[in-house]
Amino acid sequence: MTPRYSLSQIVLHWAVAMLIPIQYWTGGSIERTHHAVHMGLSPDPWDVIQHHVHNYAGVTIGALMLARLGLKLIHRGTVRHPAKSPVDRLARAMHFVFYAAVIAQAAMGLVASYLWFGIAPVHVLGSQVILALLALHITAAAWHTFVWRDDTVDRMVFPKRTLS
Ligand code: HEM
Ligand code: HEM
Repeated sequence: MTPRYSLSQIVLHWAVAMLIPIQYWTGGSIERTHHAVHMGLSPDPWDVIQHHVHNYAGVTIGALMLARLGLKLIHRGTVRHPAKSPVDRLARAMHFVFYAAVIAQAAMGLVASYLWFGIAPVHVLGSQVILALLALHITAAAWHTFVWRDDTVDRMVFPKRTLS
């Protein structure tokens, strides 16, 4: 069974998994807030709160994903994984795409909010790409658990002891 994750990697994985749904719940408030302002109206205070939550949770997600990437690179030097099967390689590629998509999404959100709103349509597209990746990711986790009956989900729940 490979690979094993440290406690910090597991905590960060589930923290991001809990924060991502908040982005889909709050994302729509931004368009409503901007629309009200452009119409010369006061935005709904609840939308303004959601807008702030979206920005801060999004920045947090980006920072946590960067921390995960850092831990992964550190552990890569200390843990040897045997040669991969095609399925393992596909999973690794999918995880890499996940890292790239989520970090890019947070970066695009920052740019849209503070530098150049022109990138916003790509951020909206990114949110759909992440949803599709998430659907594949959860399907794969369910497949491992219910069809192959292996311990893939366990390794994202129980930490490897020797890593910090
Ligand atoms: C990985 C983290 C993020 C995810 C998953 C995410 C997801 C979303 C979603 C689902 C929407 C609504 C799209 C729609 O209207 O259909 C949205 C809109 C938006 N988000 Fe994010 N977001 C993230 C991070 C951020 C960050 C860090 C910021 C800013 C600091 C940000 C700024 C915006 C802006 C300005 C919009 C409005 C775009 C528009 O209406 O055209 N997002 N985001
Ligand atoms: C929405 C947020 C999520 C993101 C961004 C995400 C991202 C990732 C990434 C990048 C990895 C690879 C870890 C690494 O090699 O460092 C991973 C592993 C894993 N994730 Fe998620 N994940 C999310 C949600 C979930 C959910 C909801 C589940 C539960 C069904 C799940 C189950 C797993 C499992 C079991 C692994 C270990 C896979 C393996 O070792 O081959 N993830 N996740």
